[in-house]
Amino acid sequence: MVVKMRIVKIFDTTLRDGEQSPGASMNVEEKLQVAKQLVRLGVDIIEAGFPIASEGDFEAVNRIANEVNGAVIAGLARAKEADIKRAWEAVKNAQHKRIHTFHSTSDIHLQYQFRISREEALKRSVEMVRYARSLVKDVEFSPMDATRTELSYLLEVIDAVIEAGALTVNIPDTVGYTTPEEFGKIIRAIKERINDRAVISVHCHNDLGLAVANSLSAVFNGAGQVECTINGIGERAGNCSLEEIAMALRTRKDFFNADTDINTREIIRSSRLITKITGIPVQPNKAIVGANAFAHESGIHQDGLLKEKTTYEIIRPESIGLQSTRLVLGKHSGRHAFKTRLKELGYDLSPEEAESAFMKFKHLADQKKEIYDEDLETLVSEEVAKIPEIYSLVDLSVLSGLKKKPKAIIKMRVKGKTVQKTATGDGPVDATYKAIASLTKAKSNLLKFEVKSITGGTDALGEVIVSLEEKDKTVRGHGADTDIIVAAAKAYINALNKLAVRKK
Ligand code: KIV
Ligand code: ZN
Repeated sequence: MVVKMRIVKIFDTTLRDGEQSPGASMNVEEKLQVAKQLVRLGVDIIEAGFPIASEGDFEAVNRIANEVNGAVIAGLARAKEADIKRAWEAVKNAQHKRIHTFHSTSDIHLQYQFRISREEALKRSVEMVRYARSLVKDVEFSPMDATRTELSYLLEVIDAVIEAGALTVNIPDTVGYTTPEEFGKIIRAIKERINDRAVISVHCHNDLGLAVANSLSAVFNGAGQVECTINGIGERAGNCSLEEIAMALRTRKDFFNADTDINTREIIRSSRLITKITGIPVQPNKAIVGANAFAHESGIHQDGLLKEKTTYEIIRPESIGLQSTRLVLGKHSGRHAFKTRLKELGYDLSPEEAESAFMKFKHLADQKKEIYDEDLETLVSEEVAKIPEIYSLVDLSVLSGLKKKPKAIIKMRVKGKTVQKTATGDGPVDATYKAIASLTKAKSNLLKFEVKSITGGTDALGEVIVSLEEKDKTVRGHGADTDIIVAAAKAYINALNKLAVRKK
């Protein structure tokens, strides 16, 4: 007998739980960019945010609901009427919408945090699921801290919220406490109790490094939805990583008899986008998307690989979209080739954005002979995430060497005026930043400065990410250029523009 392959739904919470990673906050434009990429990646549900949390969160969820098609758009709400109403207002225009409401169920949370009885928690959960159902059909309920909740009570809550109309029950391992075998048993018990009356979802945190293993065990025992984030970002040690769960199921579908609808070729692009926007780097040895994930160092392995790839490679790099050696365009490529390649890469730019990106491409092509997909993506994502330019770079020259103190001469547009400054510093970047700070009267502190090369070679596009802080506001700026000092200047100016926008 042939058993039909199950398709497990992917519920991406990069924009909600992922954004709860320290320092990972994203602005509305960045969230829209991520949501569009998640659709290309093929996720089923995008948890776009927690609308009651702030005006910014509401606006982001609302704009995603209005502008992004191709996935269910979910808004998170505590089991409170005001939260659910706000979530509904944020998602109501989406083609497919969901309200995800939650209430703690563990005794630890009920006694110490909420100071209410189990009966009261159950009553509130049921009432709020009913209320959410009066607004929208697709309602998900999460008994928070489920893995530290007594199983009989957990089953009682699950039964009751399904009765009240929840179509999905999500079982969160809120504090990353469970283990694969234990979690598998919990999921199996729930499956036996509810059968197909609702979809069982799982939401695992990675405090013990077990989020992916726990989620896989849940799938093996009947879960039909996995909640996860790109690069595994999220509260504390993060969430189950989307790329790991998707590739584990794709690679071992023979074992799990389950797969997802993820277009794995979009994985690397999604991962890089999140790194760029959040400034949170991926560790080199991270599974699937780490820089070393496909680097074979051992002679014995290299020998095997040269003879037959499958000897030491269980995943083809191309299957996650790694094609960095693909040469795309060069100096002589015209608008048509440029726009066609952008379309192939999944970017749908307005004519103005495409023209502005094309001019940047031409400028880059003058400096760099070979332009790769990654270079194009860097140019285009700068274009898409455009923010008002209160400050812009006009010109920069830097003198540095062994014997002289580095000196930067910078020309900028500052609030409509062209101004110039010369400064010296401990290094060329320091001199440049001092000149910029003086021209813009910046009062911010530099929290982080990171440099990376987008492709290989000495003429590679270098990307700089900086984090600035001013009066409790933290922003990240990006800059890319073949000249790393220019990239650093652009990143600083980009961050100052973001700070200025946030101050407004
Ligand atoms: O970790 C958790 O319990 C959550 C819930 C809101 C689902 O993020
Ligand atoms: Zn969580």
